[in-house]
Amino acid sequence: MSANGRELLYVVRNSPIHGRGVFAARYIRKGTRIVEYTGERISNREADRRYDDTRMKRHHTFLFTLDKKTVIDGAIETGGGDASFINHSCDPNCEAIITGKKIFIHALRGIYPGTELAYDYQYERTGKNDAKLEKFYFCRCGAENCRGSIMKPPKKRRSASRASRASHRSRSGRQ
Ligand SMILES: C[S@@+](CC[C@H](N)C(=O)[O-])C[C@H]1O[C@@H](n2cnc3c(N)ncnc32)[C@H](O)[C@@H]1O
Ligand SMILES: [Zn+2]
Repeated sequence: MSANGRELLYVVRNSPIHGRGVFAARYIRKGTRIVEYTGERISNREADRRYDDTRMKRHHTFLFTLDKKTVIDGAIETGGGDASFINHSCDPNCEAIITGKKIFIHALRGIYPGTELAYDYQYERTGKNDAKLEKFYFCRCGAENCRGSIMKPPKKRRSASRASRASHRSRSGRQ
């Protein structure tokens, strides 16, 4: 039960994906706004200073990009809340939505009690070192469609055969 007398939607406990995670404590309906991603608002430069990936043996950060200039550091020491414990999945049941300079985690589908909540972190690709970064940001979500990395999937290139099929349609006047 929460302080306002409402039954809690979730609990934080150990996760098979990584460290601690967030689990549904009761059925959560699709579209429910579950929790806000809180923490300290910092610049990109400060985020880089606090979390230098190159010095980490294994990746572990609490950063969430709010906009071009601002990053939210959800570490508990900087005011982070329960949302900071939500792990990544390549088959997510939640999504993060930015509303009025705040980040909220919403249910993408109905979630049964005991299920771990997860959203797709989709780390940005830089275009440099992506193959190396994919390995560094390995994923342990365990989903059937796990892409093996927390990074955004690469943009699909149209294959030669697809391109020729597309131009064939164009020439036949169906586009
Ligand atoms: C915001 S924290 C999530 C809470 C984390 N489980 C904890 O106990 O601190 C994000 C970190 O959790 C880990 N993590 C989250 N999802 C993961 C996944 N699918 N595979 C591997 N590590 C993951 C990574 O270390 C990532 O940097
Ligand atoms: Zn995965």
